[in-house]
Amino acid sequence: MNELVSISHHADIAVVTISNPPVNALGPGVPEGIQSCIATAAADPGVSAIVVMGGGRTFIAGADIREFGKVVSGEKPRRSLLPFLLEIEDCAKPVVMAIHGTAFGGGLEVAMAGHYRVIAPAALVGQPEVKLGIIPGAAGTQRLPRLAGVAKAVEMCAFGEPMGAQEALALGIVDRIIEGDLTAGAVAFAREVAGHPPPKTRERTAKLRDADAEIFDRARQQARKTRRGQNAPLAAIEAVEAATKLPFEAGCAREAELFDECLYSTQSRALMHAFFAERAVSKIPDVPKDTPVSEIRRAAVIGAGTMGAGITMNYANAGIPVIVKETEQEALDRGMANIRRNYANTVKKGKLSQAGMDQRLDLITPRLTYDGFENADIIAEAVFEGMALKKQVFAEIDRIARPECILASNTSYLDVDEIASVTNRPEMVLGHHYFSPANVMRLLEIVRGRATSKAALATSMALAKRMNKIGVLAGNARGFIGNRMLGPYLREAQFLVEEGASVEDVNGALYDFGMAMGPLAMSDLAGLDVGWRARREFKHLEKPGVRVPLVADRLCEMGRYGQKTGRGWSRYDENRQASHDPETAALIEQVAREAGIGRRAILHQEIVERCIFALVNEGARVLGEGVALRASDIDVVYLNGYAFPAWRGGPMFYADAVGLGTVLARIQEWSACHGEDLWSPAPLLVELARSGGTFSGFDKRREVAG
Ligand code: 3HC
Ligand code: NAI
Repeated sequence: MNELVSISHHADIAVVTISNPPVNALGPGVPEGIQSCIATAAADPGVSAIVVMGGGRTFIAGADIREFGKVVSGEKPRRSLLPFLLEIEDCAKPVVMAIHGTAFGGGLEVAMAGHYRVIAPAALVGQPEVKLGIIPGAAGTQRLPRLAGVAKAVEMCAFGEPMGAQEALALGIVDRIIEGDLTAGAVAFAREVAGHPPPKTRERTAKLRDADAEIFDRARQQARKTRRGQNAPLAAIEAVEAATKLPFEAGCAREAELFDECLYSTQSRALMHAFFAERAVSKIPDVPKDTPVSEIRRAAVIGAGTMGAGITMNYANAGIPVIVKETEQEALDRGMANIRRNYANTVKKGKLSQAGMDQRLDLITPRLTYDGFENADIIAEAVFEGMALKKQVFAEIDRIARPECILASNTSYLDVDEIASVTNRPEMVLGHHYFSPANVMRLLEIVRGRATSKAALATSMALAKRMNKIGVLAGNARGFIGNRMLGPYLREAQFLVEEGASVEDVNGALYDFGMAMGPLAMSDLAGLDVGWRARREFKHLEKPGVRVPLVADRLCEMGRYGQKTGRGWSRYDENRQASHDPETAALIEQVAREAGIGRRAILHQEIVERCIFALVNEGARVLGEGVALRASDIDVVYLNGYAFPAWRGGPMFYADAVGLGTVLARIQEWSACHGEDLWSPAPLLVELARSGGTFSGFDKRREVAG
């Protein structure tokens, strides 16, 4: 017993309760506390069985992830949970684990070391360690196949998805679902099993006989495809395979070896960084936790195009009634048809019920007028990109909307303050910049204007959460965080083809780096015309004499807008499969010749470095200027909005891992060769590289400074 784990008595049943908020992670003191409580109860003649449960909102969400960093840095020794779990399993009195909330990672491993498991109907179990770049390290890969069977254990350990109570019961991971009061149900269950010899999970072998080489082959293939580049899923498969070939103790030893290989890897550091980055992102230093959040009961969206339709679905998905307005019936019908088709596809995939779809559609009201806008708590604008139109729309809605109504623009690049200036409530105006497809992508940049109120920001953050999005605060600078950084990245990709790399080289190098798709493939997907229009709008900002990419505009002039027209940087068949386009290749050569650009063979390493370091350099500027609050926020933007490989932690974490000195040296070389206008190193990068600092160190310094 200690301050984290206590014991109480329900007649002859001892109830051991863990109280380590917020998620009862197995931090220092928790395993020891459980151990000592179980030992006390085991020695107490008045106790016939023991229940272990979590106090507060959950059972045990796993090992304390913060401790891993200390182990890797050598600050703390690695301490195995295995002996502690064996002691639970060897307890002579039945130990019943009572699960509510989540039993994740080490939490499920503790539960499986108990003799029985009961569960609340809404609880989840899982081995999500792979999402942190590690594998279960406390015999999860050895006990789970003994309970759930080999195929399911491989799936759970390699892919990390949680499982609900019903499925866990059907598979034998848990023994009973307790409706109603969990403590009472668990105590009653414990009384039923008291006096019987407690079954030990590690001694069960029946389900291990299901092992079949094909299970592992299939899982490896799937991991190579869906977790491309990641080591942990393959290690997890190997560890479960070991359970089917080795006795329990030897299997645990193999698991421990594989665990250590994963733990001491950059991938796990990157993924753990991503975990904490995602949780830090909603904290805005000057917006206190208790800032009043207004309730969003009704919403309205203007524009039912690509983005407006997706944004409308986001509101409906969150259960918020929403009006969507267009100017013409045809556009409105098209938008609604897209929404219906989207939902119908989700139903077809089995991810939504027909009733669920109907319910969501019922929440959406299509309109050609502003009728009903006077009741909205938030109005989201998603009309064409253009300052004049945005101002006209904001002036109109400002007249109609309630004074407390938030007005959010989905603009990609425009100045939110200028948009706000036409309203009488600049404090309620901000950017809600979604990413396409808006109903799928989890990122939402919340753009803070000069006058935006703290309440509007706090409400937006809460709304993002309600929509199951990740809200990231961005300053009001052209392109905000993500698109601003994308500019130099795409610029370099285009320069590289002009200088001699093929389209396939550029796409392939970044795909191999881990990006979901190469930069030119991404441009083809988004539509080359989007950038073409933006370049025309911002032409006046181009500095004379500074090199700009030349090919994309020429492609657009030829009507080649990318996938939507079947041709862009690549050629696309009816299934949108890309192939080499000799015409593009010829055009690139011609453009380079006309511009006097020398062509040469370019290595993949140069392609990756020029594109990614361009991203990093602009990221350093964004951070230095305060457009992003933290380097880790930038990583969250790139991981969730641009499919940057999670196991590389995001561009800023990646730069730290490469070493800022190396990044700076390369940028300085390019600056000498391609000119300072293109490659002047960001002041913050220079400062950190010279002082031996890192972006994550910069974040820590800022956090301490408040
Ligand atoms: N260790 C340390 N801190 C943790 C944690 C953990 N395992 N899980 C959550 N936290 C912290 C979060 O950082 C956050 O802290 P903050 O308030 O200071 O930002 C706080 O707990 C609340 O977390 P969330 O904001 O994520 O709360 P939610 O209610 O949205 O989600 C959760 C709860 C589903 C438990 C989610 O936090 C989660 O998935 N946690 C990670 C679970 C996990 O990966 N477990 C495996 C750990 S590795 C392991 O067990 C190894 C073993 O095999 C030996
Ligand atoms: P879109 O062209 O698909 O849709 C715009 C819609 O707005 C059209 O259907 C049009 O009829 C409608 N519209 C125009 N004026 C209107 C008015 N006064 N009232 C009601 N409806 C009106 O454009 P898209 O791609 O959806 O872009 C919308 C906004 O979102 C732009 O600001 C764009 O920069 C931004 N954005 C676009 C992304 C993308 O990938 N397409 C990603 C993130 C932001």
